[in-house]
Amino acid sequence: MTPIGQLVSSLSQRLAHAGIESSTSEARSLIAFAAGVEPSRLVFLDSLESQQETLVARYVDQRCEGTPLQQIMGYAYFRHTRVRVGPGVFIPRPETEVLAGWAIDQVNRGRTSVVELCAGSGAISLAIAQESRPAHHWAVELSENAFGYLVENLRSTTVVPVHDDMATALRQLNGTIDLVVANPPYIPEIDRESLPVDVSHDPSTALFSGVDGLDHLRTVAQVAKRLLKPGSVVGSEHGDDQAEQVRRIFESTGFVNIKTHLDLTSRPRFVTATKPDME
Ligand SMILES: C[S@@+](CC[C@H](N)C(=O)[O-])C[C@H]1O[C@@H](n2cnc3c(N)ncnc32)[C@H](O)[C@@H]1O
Repeated sequence: MTPIGQLVSSLSQRLAHAGIESSTSEARSLIAFAAGVEPSRLVFLDSLESQQETLVARYVDQRCEGTPLQQIMGYAYFRHTRVRVGPGVFIPRPETEVLAGWAIDQVNRGRTSVVELCAGSGAISLAIAQESRPAHHWAVELSENAFGYLVENLRSTTVVPVHDDMATALRQLNGTIDLVVANPPYIPEIDRESLPVDVSHDPSTALFSGVDGLDHLRTVAQVAKRLLKPGSVVGSEHGDDQAEQVRRIFESTGFVNIKTHLDLTSRPRFVTATKPDME
């Protein structure tokens, strides 16, 4: 049986050789996952059992072939929470954590009825539910696969999962909502052939949005306008090269106080806007 330090080093070298940037951290995560402990507990282990070593070798093979770490482990970390993920659902990204933080702040300031559009695994809604507890909260998702993860991830909360197209969902709530939040698909169709490896495992229905990548953002603006009370707010993620076009979409839909916000890497990543008090 290989001592843990030696195992981390050899697996990390294999991962680095396959082009994985944070190879040591990923080697530690996979070893910890095979051992059934948190990575921070690895220091208390001398070695893995032989079955666990076989298992971790298989995980590293999968990772070297390009399977995302989160899909191998079956979960992803998002802010202070952990969501189940797998084939058929978009893996939540760290850049979306700032949008979720903005939404949590809005709820903490008294916006207590929330709708999340394009909810996927439910990472944003779960973070909002855990960190700010809105009084009424719905999460809308169209894909049947993703909806299964959404239901599972929101089971411990009072968020209502809604399996529907956002364009027509929740009409009974028109004009009653304080906060709409969304991370819609926003990649232009033309980029389908040249996708970076880090998104190639996500379902295409979570990624692409028409010729300019903005079809879903146009829908988000329309749906937010219909759901929100006057004076209420929407926040939506977009591509880091789409800020200006997205501001124009919200402006032409009749929103005011339109702002672009940066993500953790200081790239323009989400827009926020207010539905005017009087039209
Ligand atoms: C980029 S993913 C975001 C998932 C999740 N909110 C997150 O941040 O990890 C976009 C999600 O929108 C869903 N979606 C696409 N079109 C939709 C529509 N018309 N109505 C509702 N959901 C839709 C996709 O299935 C996918 O789960």
